[in-house]
Amino acid sequence: MNDTSTIDLQHRFRARFGTDGTVFRAPGRVNLIGEHTDYNEGFVLPAAIDLACRVVAAPRDDDRLVIHSESVGATFTARLGDAARSRQWSDYPLGVAWSLQRDGYALRGADLLIDSNVPIGAGLSSSAAIEVAVGYALLDVAGHAVDRKRLALACQFAENEFVGARCGIMDQYVSCHGAAGSAVLLDCRALTHRIVRLPDGVEMVICNTMVKHEISTGGYNTRRAECEEGVRKLAAALPDIRSLRDVTRDDLERHRDLLTPLIYRRCRHIVTENARVHRLAAALEARDRAAIGALMAESHRSMRDDFEISCPELDVMVDLATRDGNPHVLGARMTGGGFGGSAVVLVDEAHADALRQHLGPAYQAATGIAAEIRACHAADGAGRES
Ligand code: GLA
Repeated sequence: MNDTSTIDLQHRFRARFGTDGTVFRAPGRVNLIGEHTDYNEGFVLPAAIDLACRVVAAPRDDDRLVIHSESVGATFTARLGDAARSRQWSDYPLGVAWSLQRDGYALRGADLLIDSNVPIGAGLSSSAAIEVAVGYALLDVAGHAVDRKRLALACQFAENEFVGARCGIMDQYVSCHGAAGSAVLLDCRALTHRIVRLPDGVEMVICNTMVKHEISTGGYNTRRAECEEGVRKLAAALPDIRSLRDVTRDDLERHRDLLTPLIYRRCRHIVTENARVHRLAAALEARDRAAIGALMAESHRSMRDDFEISCPELDVMVDLATRDGNPHVLGARMTGGGFGGSAVVLVDEAHADALRQHLGPAYQAATGIAAEIRACHAADGAGRES
């Protein structure tokens, strides 16, 4: 739930802009499996969560965007069509306006008030939530019907080309297409998805390690480059491949000598992780608890040892959640881009509180860091709230 009620947000908007606004909402996300597979045109299985960004919006009579951020406590004004970056929070909303216009949408000037409770730096896609909520609001205010796939792509384009972060499509897509109680099995090449119902009575506990290692951005881009190198080298023997999505485990083993040991391990993570996405979707639907746990554990190991995007704090968190065979924990793994951020634990609802109470002190004893641990529910994708 958002901390501020919809009515309270509308009051704040009226007090600031002297007019009534409509409230739009777009969620953050937690990824259950399929890490770094999105930019390899593979598969992911994220869920939208009940932490969200909300934007109150009303049209203006001129071509200005007046954007107020509640969390930063600052207001930014620009003209529609302005493409000047300021390397701060306003690049996200401005980038989305720029990207939608490039995509052919005629927009109107608007007053916007942004309020989000998706924690920043926790690996829960706070930036995708802002982009999608703002994009939804700008389209609606200008009288356009919202095409969710096109909106997700425009938001990703804004992040890639305006903000300058080379993310894949997963975060923006699930923020647009999430479904309550379910995860979204997304094919990142076809951009089609299937809704995967989560087992009843199971909760997602998100454990923010509160660390974000310096190499986070650089590490992400290095992994992308390493995957691209893998494709280039493998293409000498497999001319039809376009991305690691097209490489089978057999292909990889057969042509292993084309790769350095490091690039081989990077490729092995992507190829095996793609297969695990499908297997976890099936295990969730079959409520096969043993398979769910095994797949999440395998995924974590693959990210730790082959893709090398985990860190000691994430490993401690996952270990504490799964050690001693707690029968109420289905599985745990790190989630998101890596090098810090959060782990996700699937746990029986009735035992989520007990798990939180155990994990907090145990993690603090092991690392000296106070974690933020919260239970989340799978939520619907972006929409209007009022
Ligand atoms: C970040 C990116 C996503 C995806 C994940 C890793 O969240 O924004 O596109 O690549 O990392 O799975």
